[in-house]
Amino acid sequence: MNQNISDTAEREAQIPVQEPQRQYYFMERAKEHLEEMCRAAGRRLTFCVTTFGCQMNARDSEKLVGILERVGYMEEPDEEKADFVIYNTCTVRENANQRVYGRLGQLGRNKKKNPNMMIALCGCMMQEPEVVEKLKKSYPFVDIIFGTHNIYKFAELLVSHMESERTVIDIWKDTDKIVEDLPSERKYPFKSGVNIMFGCNNFCSYCIVPYVRGRERSRDPRAIIKEIERLVSEGVVEVMLLGQNVNSYGKTLDKPMTFAQLLREIEKIDGLERIRFMTSHPKDLSDELIDVMASSGKICRHLHLPVQSGSTRILEKMNRRYTKEGYLALAERIKKAMPDISLTTDIIVGFPGETEEDFQDTLDVVRKVRYDSAFTFIYSKRTGTPAAAMPDQVPGDVVKDRFDRLLKEVQDISTQMCALHQGTVQTVLVESVNAHDPALVTGRLGNNLLVHFPGDASMIGGFFRVKLKECKGFYYIGEIAQ
Ligand code: SAH
Ligand code: SF4
Ligand code: F3S
Repeated sequence: MNQNISDTAEREAQIPVQEPQRQYYFMERAKEHLEEMCRAAGRRLTFCVTTFGCQMNARDSEKLVGILERVGYMEEPDEEKADFVIYNTCTVRENANQRVYGRLGQLGRNKKKNPNMMIALCGCMMQEPEVVEKLKKSYPFVDIIFGTHNIYKFAELLVSHMESERTVIDIWKDTDKIVEDLPSERKYPFKSGVNIMFGCNNFCSYCIVPYVRGRERSRDPRAIIKEIERLVSEGVVEVMLLGQNVNSYGKTLDKPMTFAQLLREIEKIDGLERIRFMTSHPKDLSDELIDVMASSGKICRHLHLPVQSGSTRILEKMNRRYTKEGYLALAERIKKAMPDISLTTDIIVGFPGETEEDFQDTLDVVRKVRYDSAFTFIYSKRTGTPAAAMPDQVPGDVVKDRFDRLLKEVQDISTQMCALHQGTVQTVLVESVNAHDPALVTGRLGNNLLVHFPGDASMIGGFFRVKLKECKGFYYIGEIAQ
C-alpha cells in the first residue's frame, strides 16, 4: 500500500468518535496547521469574532473564541487587521442581514490584500437556505459556513478547510444534541452568560428564531450547576441564565423540573452573588417563579417580560397565547410581590393588520405597566414565518409615525422611572472603567440601571455601596456611600 494512504488511514482511525474529545483532537490538529502557517507568515496570526444579535449569540461567540485561542490564534479586536474574521450572525430582522452583507464586501477587499486571510460565517442567518445560496453565488471568497446546531464542531470544520483549502459548508436542519465541556473564553472575568436551554417551540407568527435555532432542548440541571460552580471558582459573581423562553425550562428533561426549581438549586451555590435570566415568556411565568424571586437574596429584581403588543386581537395573530388583560394582571402580581422590581419589555410596531386602535392598546399597556425600559422594533417581514403571508401589511409611513409616538412614550416613562432612585444608596457591581472619563468606573445595579462614579480599574468585579446622586435620564452619576 502507498505509504501516504496508510498514514492517512492510520491518522483517521485515531479520530475520537465521542464528543467533546473529538473536538479537542481537531483543536490539536488545527494547531499544527496554524503553527506551519505562522512560520510561513513570519508572525503570529490573529482572529476577530464579530457578534450580531442576542445574548445567545454572544455566548456562542465566547465558545468560538475559546476554541480559537486553544488552536493558537491571537485575538485582534480590530476586524480590519485580523487574519481570520468570523461573523456570528443574526437574522431576527431584515436589517441584521443587510449589515452582514454590507460588511462582507469590505472583508472581500481586505482578503485580496492579505494572503493569510480567512473568513467564516456562522449563526442564525446561515440556517436560511436562500442566504447560503446567495453567499455561494455572490461571496465565493467566504471559507467556512456553518450554522447554529453544529457550532461545537468549529475546530473540525476549520481543519477540514485548512487541509482542503476549499470552502467548507456544513449546515444542519435541527439537532437534539447538546455538547458539554468545550473551551470558552469569557468576555468578563466576573460575570457570565450560562445557557440553560436552546431553541424555541413557541412559533410566534412573526419570528424566525424557532426555524433557525431548532426545537427547545433543556440542559441537564447537573451540567448547569457544575458549570456555574466552575465559573464561581474562577471568580464569577454574576450569571445570566439564557434561553428564548426560560419559563418553560425543564419540560423536556427525562426527569422534568421547573425553572423555579432550577433557580432554587442555583441560589445555593456559595460565592455566587447575583442571578439574572432572559427571556421570560409571559404565558409561562408561574406564581412559583414569582415566589422564588421574591424570597431570593440573589435573583436580581429585574424581569424582562416582552409584551410585543397591547392588543389582544394582535396578540392572538402573533400566537403569543396571552391577552392584554392577562398580561396586565401578571405585571400587577409581580409588582405586588416585589414593589422594587424593574420591568422591561420588547414591543413590535406595525404587525400585519395593526390598526390605530390596536396601537392605542399598546400605548395603554406601556402607560399602565410603566416599564423601566423597552426595546421597540418595527415589524420586519421574515420569509417562511406565518405573518409574512398575512394580508394587510401596514404601510411604512404609518408604522414610522406609530413607532415615533411609542418611542416618545417609552422614553418619557423610563426617564421618570429612573428618577425614582434619586438619592438612594444601592449595591453596584463595577463592570469597567468609564469609556469617556477614565476617572470614573461604570457599574450595574441589581435592577440593571447603570451608574458612573469615581473609581479605578482595581474595583472591576467588586461590589460597592453607591449613592445615586444625579439622574441622567437612563443612568446615574453617583459616589461611594460614606
Ligand atoms: N424569545 C424572546 C425574543 C427573542 S427575539 C421572546 O419571546 O421574548 C427578540 C425580540 O425581537 C422579540 O422580543 C421581538 O420583539 C423582536 N422580533 C422578533 N421577530 C421580529 C420581527 N419579525 N420583526 C420585528 N421584531 C421582531
Ligand atoms: Fe421568537 Fe416567540 Fe420563540 Fe421568542 S418565544 S424566540 S419571539 S418564537
Ligand atoms: Fe438573532 Fe439568532 Fe438571537 S436570530 S436574536 S441571534 S437567536
